Amino acid sequence: MVAHTVAAFGRLDAAYNNAGVQNVLAETADATREDYDRVMGINLRGEWSCMKFELQQMRNQGSGAIVNCSSLGGLVGGAERGIYHAAKHGVLGFTKSAALEYAARGIRINAICPGLIWTPMADQMVAGGQGDALRAMEKSIPMGRVGRPEEIANAVLWLCSDAASYVTGQSISVDGGFVMR
Ligand SMILES: NC(=O)c1ccc[n+]([C@@H]2O[C@H](COP(=O)([O-])OP(=O)(O)OC[C@H]3O[C@@H](n4cnc5c(N)ncnc54)[C@H](O)[C@@H]3O)[C@@H](O)[C@H]2O)c1
Repeated sequence: MVAHTVAAFGRLDAAYNNAGVQNVLAETADATREDYDRVMGINLRGEWSCMKFELQQMRNQGSGAIVNCSSLGGLVGGAERGIYHAAKHGVLGFTKSAALEYAARGIRINAICPGLIWTPMADQMVAGGQGDALRAMEKSIPMGRVGRPEEIANAVLWLCSDAASYVTGQSISVDGGFVMR
């Protein structure tokens, strides 16, 4: 991915590491090793792996901005969602650690923590029988509504831009006020 980008454009200015999946809902005592490995492999190792190769290029060029996708699950616990929340907490650990490493070398690394956003992931949760839980969650969002994907994109674009030139190692919640309560 990085090599193709550099071959096409000569450099890598910004990267957004976004891929993620939900865990199978289960109490910690019942969660499976297979689900642990699947979710950690995509949500934590996947983001780490992207960052590793992006940083190799950005380190060479002496500039760049990375945004990692965490979640409200990176900030609070979630019953039956421990594997997902642990992975998303881990994303923030990698973000802050890498930000420290590269702060003086022209590379900024930040994270965003989306709240409930209407995407195919939310559709899957409804299809999987979590519709009532999502509607209950929506009622407790201070802004009173689910977020739109472009509201996440706008925050990512800002973090990648020079308008955020003095911002690194941060996690920004884009969640209609959900985790501030
Ligand atoms: N939708 C929400 O309410 C919400 C809330 C908090 C955080 N997030 C996070 O936002 C990010 C995007 O999720 P979304 O809501 O758009 O979900 P989504 O299911 O619509 O998109 C997830 C994307 O990840 C990709 N993906 C999954 N496994 C992959 C793999 N092994 N390799 C490469 N790509 C893979 C999928 O192809 C898909 O494009 C995720 O990290 C998710 O955890 C979503």
